[in-house]
Amino acid sequence: MRPTRREFAQSAVAAGLAAALPAGLLSSCTVSSNAARTANSAASPVSPAPQFSTSPVISFPQNFFWGASTSSYQIEGAWKNDGKGESIWDRFAHTPGKIKNGDTGDLACDSYHRASEDVALVRAMNLNSYRFSISWPRIQPTGAGATNVKGFDFYSRLVDTLLEARVRPFVTLYHWDLPQALEDAGGWPNRDTASRFADYIEIVAQALGDRVSDWMLFNEPAAFTYHGYLEGIHAPGHQSILDFLRASHTVNRAQGAGFRALKAIRPSARVGTAFSMSACEPASNSDEDRQAAERAHAITNLWFLEPALNGRYPEALAFFPETAMGIKSGDLEKMRAPLDFIGINLYYRTIASVASGFERLAHPQRWLFPVKMVGGQGPKTDIGWEIWPQALYDMVVRITRDFNRPQIEITESGCAYNDAPDPNGVIYDTRRIEYHRQYLQALVRAMVDGADIRGYHAWTLLDNFEWAEGFSQRFGLAYVDFKSQKRTLKESGRWYAKVAAENRVPPA
Ligand code: FCB
Repeated sequence: MRPTRREFAQSAVAAGLAAALPAGLLSSCTVSSNAARTANSAASPVSPAPQFSTSPVISFPQNFFWGASTSSYQIEGAWKNDGKGESIWDRFAHTPGKIKNGDTGDLACDSYHRASEDVALVRAMNLNSYRFSISWPRIQPTGAGATNVKGFDFYSRLVDTLLEARVRPFVTLYHWDLPQALEDAGGWPNRDTASRFADYIEIVAQALGDRVSDWMLFNEPAAFTYHGYLEGIHAPGHQSILDFLRASHTVNRAQGAGFRALKAIRPSARVGTAFSMSACEPASNSDEDRQAAERAHAITNLWFLEPALNGRYPEALAFFPETAMGIKSGDLEKMRAPLDFIGINLYYRTIASVASGFERLAHPQRWLFPVKMVGGQGPKTDIGWEIWPQALYDMVVRITRDFNRPQIEITESGCAYNDAPDPNGVIYDTRRIEYHRQYLQALVRAMVDGADIRGYHAWTLLDNFEWAEGFSQRFGLAYVDFKSQKRTLKESGRWYAKVAAENRVPPA
């Protein structure tokens, strides 16, 4: 889903256009997307690739969290077991034509029945943090009112198993699987969904807060609002500028409301959000491109962070239409959520430039938001995302500088490589080892330069359902044979186990 940031820019662009349109036109206005999550290959001028491979051994601070991330819909399966309600991803994946090869998450990695095997993988890699998400409709089948005891039992057992294994349960409260009943009532564009989210968090905090101390309210709000409500390649599949704008504002209000709900029940809880981020570089040294990169940064990285930390939308996006977004008096103050840490999901960088006269003519919305955002020309993973470790350094250093040295957790980084087992069953995914080595080396440079980094979570523990890409992209440290559900640690998993055990990254 990677061109999130660039396409998100286009959505902002479109949003700017929305300001100029009568409101009645907005809900039916569609925005075409020519770049799905896989297409991150647009050409751009770039600087030479930074070299990292000659660094000496790098040690990390004691108590550093070495982790792996997953999400409920991508691994659990059991989509209608034990009283679970339908989610928007169940509905979307069951709609023909939405997912590559007609794949669904009905079974996925069957982690609902194999959670102990998954925790065994975490242990085998010597990890001390496991990031997983709670499926809202497993807990509250219709997203409101009655709770489902069996759903709680599942997560409660998982938390206990992790604690017994001395692994931190690092819990995401929303990784995209909204109860379908809430979508039927208007979904994220509906202001009420913010209150439903806060109620749900209260229930989860009551049930698990005695054992879970570290939480993320959202996973990648920019991604799910953009892909789900504007571009339509993710659930619930809307293509509406107005829905996108309203969903954004509800999510920002929900972030504030959810934060307060959690702290009211568990004041000592450590609460953040996992934001999708990408370092935005100007395509050239011109003033125009530098300004374009600043606008790209505001759209890509600040749209859900600035409201939480500063109670306002980024200044660079001040042209967004307040009425179309549904902003009401008092809302800005309520969006505030003084997060205890900032989660960063980072995979690649973004190159920004001012849109040319021709592009402006071809895309009238660029008159309103005249920024072009593309991927860089570095090497690519199998899904087409650029490998650019310097982007992690740049992003972390910038957030450190601009937000007064917050605590940061790297909540995701990783790569799709579809290496298969050799005749002996060994998966030699050496490119994945190289990816994580380079990103970790970049991270440590950021730490040396002052960033307060508490943990690194590889995406992902095991090959799983990669949203619109179905099972075609393997990001795991463990290989999954989806026929037998057998899990096998890849060579990258063995390497990562050594890194975690020794608390250091060995040289290549
Ligand atoms: C991130 C998502 C995660 C997974 C990875 C590859 O954007 O948070 O669920 O899809 O990309």
